[in-house]
Amino acid sequence: MMPPTRLAGTLIPAMAFLSCLRPESWDPCVQVVPNTTYQCMELNLYKIPDNIPKSTKKLDLSFNPLRRLGSHSFSNFPELQVLDLSRCEIQMIEDDAYQGLNHLSTLILTGNPIQKLALGAFSGLSSLQTLVAVETNLASLEDFPIGHLKTLKELNVAHNLIHSFQLPEYFSNMPHLEHLDLFNNKIQNIYHKDLHVLRQMPLINLSLDLSLNPLDFIQPGAFKEIKLNELTLRSNFDSIDVMKTCIEGLAGLKINRLVLGQFKNERNLKRFDKSVLEGLCNMTIEEFRAAHFDDFSEDSIDLFNCLANVSKISLVSLDLSELKSFPKSFRWQALESVKCNFEQFPTLELPSLKRLVFTSNRGLNSFTEVKLPSLEFLDLSRNGLSFKGCCSWRDLETTRLKHLDLSFNDVITMSSNFMGLEQLEYLDFQHSNLKQGNDFPVFLSLKNLRYLDISYTNTRVVFHGVFDGLVSLQVLKMAGNSFKDNSLPNVFRALTNLTSLDLSKCQLEQVSQEAFYSLPRLRLLNMSYNNLLSLDTLPYKPLHSLQILDCSFNRIVASKGQELQHFPSSLASLNLTQNDFACVCEHQSFLQWVKDQRDILVDVEQLVCAKSSDMQGMPVLSFRNATCQMNKTIIGISVFAVLTVSVVVVLVYKFYFHLMLLAGCKKYGKGESTYDAFVIYSSHDEDWVRNELVKNLEEGVPPFQLCLHYRDFIPGVAIAANIIQEGFHKSRKVIVVVSQHFIQSRWCIFEYEIAQTWQFLNSHAGIIFIVLQKLEKSLLRQQVELYRLLSRNTYLEWEDSVLGRHIFWRRLRKALLDGKTWSPEETADAESNQHDAENST
Ligand SMILES: *[C@@H]1O[C@H](CO)[C@@H](O)[C@H](O)[C@H]1NC(C)=O
Ligand SMILES: *[C@@H]1O[C@H](CO)[C@@H](O)[C@H](O)[C@H]1NC(C)=O
Ligand SMILES: *[C@@H]1O[C@H](CO)[C@@H](O)[C@H](O)[C@H]1NC(C)=O
Ligand SMILES: *[C@@H]1O[C@H](CO)[C@@H](O)[C@H](O)[C@H]1NC(C)=O
Ligand SMILES: *[C@@H]1O[C@H](CO)[C@@H](O)[C@H](O)[C@H]1NC(C)=O
Ligand SMILES: *[C@@H]1O[C@H](CO)[C@@H](O)[C@H](O)[C@H]1NC(C)=O
Ligand SMILES: *[C@@H]1O[C@H](CO)[C@@H](O)[C@H](O)[C@H]1NC(C)=O
Ligand SMILES: *[C@@H]1O[C@H](CO)[C@@H](O)[C@H](O)[C@H]1NC(C)=O
Repeated sequence: MMPPTRLAGTLIPAMAFLSCLRPESWDPCVQVVPNTTYQCMELNLYKIPDNIPKSTKKLDLSFNPLRRLGSHSFSNFPELQVLDLSRCEIQMIEDDAYQGLNHLSTLILTGNPIQKLALGAFSGLSSLQTLVAVETNLASLEDFPIGHLKTLKELNVAHNLIHSFQLPEYFSNMPHLEHLDLFNNKIQNIYHKDLHVLRQMPLINLSLDLSLNPLDFIQPGAFKEIKLNELTLRSNFDSIDVMKTCIEGLAGLKINRLVLGQFKNERNLKRFDKSVLEGLCNMTIEEFRAAHFDDFSEDSIDLFNCLANVSKISLVSLDLSELKSFPKSFRWQALESVKCNFEQFPTLELPSLKRLVFTSNRGLNSFTEVKLPSLEFLDLSRNGLSFKGCCSWRDLETTRLKHLDLSFNDVITMSSNFMGLEQLEYLDFQHSNLKQGNDFPVFLSLKNLRYLDISYTNTRVVFHGVFDGLVSLQVLKMAGNSFKDNSLPNVFRALTNLTSLDLSKCQLEQVSQEAFYSLPRLRLLNMSYNNLLSLDTLPYKPLHSLQILDCSFNRIVASKGQELQHFPSSLASLNLTQNDFACVCEHQSFLQWVKDQRDILVDVEQLVCAKSSDMQGMPVLSFRNATCQMNKTIIGISVFAVLTVSVVVVLVYKFYFHLMLLAGCKKYGKGESTYDAFVIYSSHDEDWVRNELVKNLEEGVPPFQLCLHYRDFIPGVAIAANIIQEGFHKSRKVIVVVSQHFIQSRWCIFEYEIAQTWQFLNSHAGIIFIVLQKLEKSLLRQQVELYRLLSRNTYLEWEDSVLGRHIFWRRLRKALLDGKTWSPEETADAESNQHDAENST
């Protein structure tokens, strides 16, 4: 035997060796897309890994200490398209380092302290479009050996040490160059000669970012006859004066978009006056943007005088609190103002304006009418504004409006019905407080509306016609509202083109069967965060096109029945997470159904059971219906046992009376009845029995002996025994007093049932029914047996009139006399008495 320490001594190295053989340890890179995309970020690699497939197209080697790139470093990856070498401490790139990468389109070299760049460093790279050389110690574009990259579209050399704006001659080789990013370099002066190369390339469409360069001077005319797509100058100037002269230096520039401004944390310009932007008058500008300027003087509107002819203007975070109006003569087509601190809504009368975005202004509280006859797009969101009578063309003086966004405002009173705004296609009120939208079909005229968002608008839907008229609506979002009685009625009857409906967070408990009748095109239905208890609360039948159903965050326990057979077959995604599934055998077919839907269920592993003590918190998928089979047998056996026992008990119970009765027959069966009739009645009718029945029969002629339990039952003997012994055995007939109370009182029924048994035993004996008051047929029908007997036998109806009483008593007596034997003295008595009786009635 080996001592344990020695055993361990041999095993541990062996295991270590084996673990080295595991394939993962060969390949530390993350395979993002097999054979195509590999990420080898921050793996402390000193050389390019050679175990990555040749077919790799995207390779991320960032944050590895590669330090230097020798020639043909990437010859193993001829298919590479994207190569990321950010922060690889690369100081030296040798000739032909990227040779062979003929498909490379993006090369990222950000954050490498390059000291030596061989002249042929970028040779090859015949398809390169994007070169990112941010923070690479680059001192001059002229010396950057990229002149042969004819396919280059974007050159990003931000955060470098470039002093000169001299655009190198080799740019003329790059007809596709679109972006040159010189952000945060050291450029101070721009001279006419620097742009020489651009004058030779009139077709170039260049966007130039010079932000954060410490510009001092732009030679007047430097940009004359230059055409640019975009020029960005943010946080470039030390003072207003420098800014003013530099802008004048741009004279002659033709530009699609000019961006002027500062950065949020680099605001240093103070005291703007109207002359600052005067230089813009000598430029041709399509679109102007300004960002993060403050401290404007009062006549700030003059600032924009040279921008009267731009088509698009965008103002972000400017302190324009004093600005009250824009001159009518401005030809702006689009105006965007974001966070501009207006203190009152500016007067806007711009005949050409088509698009107005005016958002996120603090300190405004009411909207004033504007006159914008060409307006098509209006976004007034996030201003905290109140609207008194939304909305009609009068507020805006336009009938062309297609897009209206009033979301995230204050109270919006919906008192106009969008008169004149029939062109609207998009309408957003979310998170504003809608008032009065619920009394009439507010949207009736919006036949072109495609998109409506009234989420979180404190709307309580009561009026069923609220969405009438929206025949083109495709998207309706109304999350976070509520419905009368928390029940969804058929409010969508007009929305036959609806494809997306969001009803989340609406406190819904019930859904009307008609609710979705008119939504055959619905593709997305969001019912999440409601209070549905069952999955078949929703009427699925009309939803032929449903693809996405979100019922998460409800209280769904299961589905009640087979209704899920209408469940849309088109469904591709079903979210049932966060419900209260009851994983019990009662719902096993539903749980099986859930399992069958596994392919379309979202996060199916996360569906957990909420009920049944042993399954709580367990995945729904782990429910086994086999346990139900076992339970079923156990239940089956127990049910059978209980049934048998009950049957025996019932039989014994029934036979107990039969046996007693049989015994009684023997005892009393010799025809010696003490009573003429045993009276069964409800205690409610006792007055009638005492005052009418007893009086008339016992004191009448001939006198009958009645058995009445209040009088004739032997005290101390069990009632059932009394009924049998005293009631039936000693009586020739049974009188049943039928009344409403009789039918309703269980006790009477019991008596009556015993009487039937008795009738069965003495087939000659009869039951006489007296119906005291008119009975409701429906009530009578509940007592099937009694109903049958009543309709088969003749019965006496009590009628409280002189003639009626007379006929009643005669018929009753006749019935009682049937089968009575008479002793002679009784007959004599009876005859004399009868005269008295008939005289008295
Ligand atoms: C990856 O490449 C290998 C070898 O070329 C091949 O066998 C495998 O099928 C490829 N895998 C995929 C997902 O393309
Ligand atoms: C210029 O380039 C921009 C993108 O940088 C593009 O949107 C625009 O259409 C181009 N213009 C022309 C005339 O090619
Ligand atoms: C515009 O250019 C003209 C001549 O080209 C010059 O006289 C004028 O001063 C310039 N205006 C501004 C505001 O720079
Ligand atoms: C705008 O255009 C009009 C008409 O073409 C012209 O008279 C006016 O001087 C222009 N304004 C500016 C600031 O360029
Ligand atoms: C509903 O949509 C269909 C197809 O998208 C379209 O042809 C029809 O005109 C629309 N109906 C209305 C009333 O907009
Ligand atoms: C449904 O609405 C909820 C909350 O309103 C949201 O989080 C969820 O993403 C929506 N589901 C779908 C499928 O859009
Ligand atoms: C339900 O799942 C869908 C699809 O993954 C998702 O878009 C939606 O946000 C989920 N719902 C909620 C309330 O998270
Ligand atoms: C029980 O599960 C099996 C397979 O998991 C399935 O075929 C069967 O239909 C299920 N029975 C019921 C009653 O759901």
